[in-house]
Amino acid sequence: MKINSNISKLKPSATLLINETVKQLRVEGKKVYHFGFGQSPFPIPKPIVKNLKKNASCNHYLPTTGLQELKVEIAKFLKKHQNIKTASENIFIGPGSKELLYQSILIFEGTFLIPKGSWVSYVPQVNSVGKKSVIIETYFQDNYKLQPEVLENYLKDQKNKQHVLILNSPNNPSGAIYSEKELEKLAEVCKKYQIIVLSDEIYSQVSFNQKQAPSIFNYYPENTIVFGGLSKVFSAGGYRLGFMVIPENLKKLHTVYQSLFSETFSAVTAPIQYAAIEAYTFKKEVKKPIKAAVKILESVGNLVYDELSNAGINCTQPQGGFYMLISFDLFKDELKKINITTSTQLANYILNEYQVALLPGIDFYFKEDELVFRLAYVDFNGKKALKKYNNYKGKLNDTFAKSIAPNVVTGIKKLTEFVNSLK
Ligand SMILES: Cc1ncc(COP(=O)(O)O)c(C=O)c1O
Repeated sequence: MKINSNISKLKPSATLLINETVKQLRVEGKKVYHFGFGQSPFPIPKPIVKNLKKNASCNHYLPTTGLQELKVEIAKFLKKHQNIKTASENIFIGPGSKELLYQSILIFEGTFLIPKGSWVSYVPQVNSVGKKSVIIETYFQDNYKLQPEVLENYLKDQKNKQHVLILNSPNNPSGAIYSEKELEKLAEVCKKYQIIVLSDEIYSQVSFNQKQAPSIFNYYPENTIVFGGLSKVFSAGGYRLGFMVIPENLKKLHTVYQSLFSETFSAVTAPIQYAAIEAYTFKKEVKKPIKAAVKILESVGNLVYDELSNAGINCTQPQGGFYMLISFDLFKDELKKINITTSTQLANYILNEYQVALLPGIDFYFKEDELVFRLAYVDFNGKKALKKYNNYKGKLNDTFAKSIAPNVVTGIKKLTEFVNSLK
């Protein structure tokens, strides 16, 4: 039997593998502090679930690119809560933003540019269709955000080739958010070299210091496609609904995507699309728990950042999303003495010796000897946390975060113990 070699070379993502190991350890009765898997810990806001139930008997296929009513609500939502102005016909609905990204990778020719410190699936998706990706260097002092000079430095030697940049903000894995100024500068380079930008904004409203994360769409609307969906903001990853915004300038792509959708998934599940209308209408009953969830995430993110920084561990300060990057590069010499030189070895060591699950940076395109890890700080009960938040008076602080996320607290303690053992 012959299998397409682009596919047979793929390996299960590290995220899923570590989750399996953690499950196994838990089955064996071992306590694990799980900083590996990044799923929203909160329940889906009630009106969305109610609307799904109400539409459960809806059994017909919906239009290939999505329900018109839903597109209209998403367009209104984007204008109000993501500062993106677009006509509803430019919005296409798919079964998760992951699938929409994948189909985009299939559609565009050229080289895909991925900043170091990007989501685990981008490069495997590019590889699986036999296309070329290039990792663009980023640095800790910039919170691993792509710098325009670095991008330009790469592009200036690439004559007459098409490039597609995949940019993600708020970022998984670093938790960083690109500022308006930073996006404006990046957009200048993108414009100069006529790059196509796939802007992954799946965490957009999970933004701690501002209403929403800024979008490069506003500085480079001609060639930017924006991606979003229900998974992170509405805690509904399992519903599998995402959307993309195709800019006016690329309208000719409408028929391209429409044809590919119709030959692959046909249309997104009908009841889910009806339920999603309730999400994007964003009434008080939906908005309130989401705002609360963002506040809770911010308090836990700050706690982890403060405690690990105090312990002498370099970390990115989370500005949104569920994650941050932490680095043990300062301890390379000590780790070498116990034969640890790669992030994979260190992730295994920390899991086995300290029962803490972290994802090695190699899966986020760091070099194997860069001892950088993604830490997801969502190992807590979101439902209980929301209840506590609703009865909580005053500003959320470390004491609140500690009370709702005991596993996170112990995990941090264990990481501190580990670092102290090296000093
Ligand atoms: C950065 C990033 N982009 C896209 C996705 C995919 O989201 P969806 O559930 O919409 O396919 C994820 C989910 O983990 C993600 O972290």
